[in-house]
Amino acid sequence: STVLVLNGPNLGRLGSREPDVYGSANLDDLRTLLVASARPGVSIDLRQTDDEAELIHWLYEAVDERMSVILNPAAFTHYSYALRDAAALVTKASLCLIEVHISNPHARETFRHTSVVSAIATGVIAGLGFDSYRLALDFVTAP
Ligand code: DQA
Repeated sequence: STVLVLNGPNLGRLGSREPDVYGSANLDDLRTLLVASARPGVSIDLRQTDDEAELIHWLYEAVDERMSVILNPAAFTHYSYALRDAAALVTKASLCLIEVHISNPHARETFRHTSVVSAIATGVIAGLGFDSYRLALDFVTAP
């Protein structure tokens, strides 16, 4: 099976963007970590976009191809009803969608305390750095 690992805006800059908050590792390091920790037979398809429409279309792809999703919606988390509605299609189709965050948004600015995605997600993991993704992967691929 393939797990889609989708990353929203500005996450392409991981490694150099606010390393005090997000650490110094980049998305290639994240891919390497996830590939190394995936169960046998599990493929990791890790993508990043700054484009809301592209992210929405990838969620349709998850529905059509019946793939579990690990989603870091980044700043879209806090205001994109369009992304939420697309993410809801995934969980309505009885597929897992785990919302993940590298930082703990609840420990940061007030505007980050709201997620419009969480209510339709299967679950949420935040604040554990790249381990947020690793634990989500373990869950969605558990036998
Ligand atoms: C983030 C948290 C968001 O508030 C922020 O906009 C991001 C990254 C995280 O992974 O901690 O871009 O989703």
